[in-house]
Amino acid sequence: MKNQLLKVENLSKSYTPGQAIWQKVSFELNRGDFLYILGGSGAGKSSLLRAIASFEQPTEGQVICHGLDLKTASYSDLERIRKRIAFIPQNLGLIPDLTLHDHIEISQMAIPRGDRVSDDIIQGYLGLMGLKNKLNRKISILSGGEKQRVAILRALSKKSDLLIADEPTGAQDFEMTWKLMDLFVKINLSGTAVLVATHDLEMVRRLRKRCAILKDGNFKVEDRTP
Ligand SMILES: Nc1ncnc2c1ncn2[C@@H]1O[C@H](COP(=O)(O)OP(=O)(O)OP(=O)(O)O)[C@@H](O)[C@H]1O
Ligand SMILES: [Mg+2]
Repeated sequence: MKNQLLKVENLSKSYTPGQAIWQKVSFELNRGDFLYILGGSGAGKSSLLRAIASFEQPTEGQVICHGLDLKTASYSDLERIRKRIAFIPQNLGLIPDLTLHDHIEISQMAIPRGDRVSDDIIQGYLGLMGLKNKLNRKISILSGGEKQRVAILRALSKKSDLLIADEPTGAQDFEMTWKLMDLFVKINLSGTAVLVATHDLEMVRRLRKRCAILKDGNFKVEDRTP
């Protein structure tokens, strides 16, 4: 299909042989799609997102992005695909001794100039996230919610085809949660496909989008919001 961005086919993951965390996960995402992945703690949301983002190998199955199988893609194709994925990991992956400014700079250094979002947009994000006066502070002295917003801002500092966010608002208050969700929707409307893992049913009911549920190792895209 012309608009297809991602095809996940029969993906399974076992950390211990014979004990699948999730199995036969299959779904497709087109450009501009938005999909929640819902599941309880330990259901396998983070490991599934890492496998889709190619940070972890699945045990079986295929992730096809831009028509390329990530398992067999050449190193340069894989790098090119990764550069167009904005990933907000649950563990944030920030470097405590560096500043927010450093994190944006490092993220942008790794990508072609044309794939960087403009300084004006970054300034807008800093304002929206209440981080304007935190730009030069070390990560180690930021609050938990601020650290999470740094990880979000870093991911959004480049243009992406796919935004993967692993419980991106878990450390935010109500108002900031909705500012961030509004922002994800705007980015989604511009054509970026969005995958959000959450166990926040209230979020899913307020911002109604397609939902998949991960439970007992099985993955099912639902027709209705749970
Ligand atoms: N590297 C690993 N080695 C062994 N087991 C792992 C590894 N990573 C995750 N697991 C196990 O896989 C299961 C799923 O973990 P995962 O982090 O994907 O769940 P989750 O749905 O994201 O949970 P939470 O909502 O608490 O973040 C858990 O039982 C976890 O202990
Ligand atoms: Mg998780």
